[in-house]
Amino acid sequence: MQNFFRGIELADRSLLPVPQQKKEHATQETNEVTVLDRTFVQDPWAIYQRLRATGPVQRVLVPGGVPMWLVTSYADARALLADPRLSKDYEGIRELFPPGRAGTYESPMAAHMLNSDPPAHTRLRTLVNQALAARTIGRLRPRIEGIADELLDAMPATSAGPGGPAVDLIEAYAFRLPITVICELLGVPAADRNDFQAWSKAFVSAVPPHVVRDAERSVTAYLTALIDAKRVSPSDDLLSDLLHISGQPGQLWPDELVRMAFLLLVAGFEPTASLIGNGVLALLRHPGQLGLLRSEPSRLPGAIEELLRYEAPLHVATMRYTTEPVVVAGTEIPDGALVLISMLAANRDAERFADPDELDIARQDPGHLAFGHGIHYCAGAPLARLEGQIAIGRLLDRFPAMTLAGEAEELRWRGSVLMRSLSSLPVRLA
Ligand code: HEM
Repeated sequence: MQNFFRGIELADRSLLPVPQQKKEHATQETNEVTVLDRTFVQDPWAIYQRLRATGPVQRVLVPGGVPMWLVTSYADARALLADPRLSKDYEGIRELFPPGRAGTYESPMAAHMLNSDPPAHTRLRTLVNQALAARTIGRLRPRIEGIADELLDAMPATSAGPGGPAVDLIEAYAFRLPITVICELLGVPAADRNDFQAWSKAFVSAVPPHVVRDAERSVTAYLTALIDAKRVSPSDDLLSDLLHISGQPGQLWPDELVRMAFLLLVAGFEPTASLIGNGVLALLRHPGQLGLLRSEPSRLPGAIEELLRYEAPLHVATMRYTTEPVVVAGTEIPDGALVLISMLAANRDAERFADPDELDIARQDPGHLAFGHGIHYCAGAPLARLEGQIAIGRLLDRFPAMTLAGEAEELRWRGSVLMRSLSSLPVRLA
């Protein structure tokens, strides 16, 4: 099954040779075209500064030597996210990769809503919007607070002293909170969550492709069986709601339901975990902003928006391709080209945001692109915002003296061009 957030992984694949038919082409270009390698993932800002000086759209090579176009300005990013000349059709995307190098787009399970165009996308999105609206996200608040508190209770108190052991906030909190929430919302039984979490890790970690394939198979089999069980005895959850819809002719086909469940599960935890991890790191690195938030907790919703802008959880939007030549700021992207739209760069565009590299939780300037734009705008944005507010708010309340354990400069970002997420975030709680 496809994990849409795992399109362009660096580990292992980046070390593989450039595909044969592209080799000469890619090698020649390497001198003049930016390669989105580990250096880019660890510190994209310096590279963005250089790219911006040349223009808002650039040819780049992703790991494996596949050429793409990278868009970095806010205005162009926003326009292209909503431009119907850019397609998200999964078959079209897969065909543009060299054979065998399409990564997760190799699997037919990749044909989920996020990799589709109208009219199929319109039908699927209407159904999922209905199902999510019926669950009234605001009503989840007490349960999400309960989950946050359980996880915070479980964090080792022994990390109290400055010399005590550090806690990895990504593992102990940032990842677990949203995975528990989305599993409960969808109706994945608590007893199965550890299995699911282990499979999911294969999608979000730097592991060899065969490990991902095994995990895909396991998750597909698991979700198919879960849906079959809910067909026999439905319960009060989102999956049962979607199952009910799928019983109605022309609404949602059974294979679409499995893909939708997977999309919601993965989309539901992966970027939210990044928001929590990136957000806490940004606050710890800006003690003045952290102090302001602690002294005026009513600023929390605004702070979450600023954290989403400052360090977007999805570095780039998921893959799109041109269905005709598209001119961006005077540069023509040819027909049939793969396009990466950088939300990370767009959200720090000085043409759009004053002092874009400053973290300012009092910023009165909405409009970041962290949730995308256009018809694929994040279906879970209200839930993500609620989770972010509860997760970061509860953490700061519980541990008023939390500090980074170690130097921020030594932290590693996960080997993915697609996600902007930390491998770990060691903290001392008191
Ligand atoms: C901070 C957390 C989150 C961020 C930053 C985020 C970001 C995004 C972005 C940028 C897109 C559009 C990608 C593109 O156009 O290429 C997207 C789509 C989507 N997101 Fe989220 N997301 C978050 C949380 C969630 C949650 C909690 C859910 C689950 C309920 C969710 C469900 C989805 C779905 C289903 C789509 C596909 C929408 C479509 O194709 O119409 N997301 N998200």
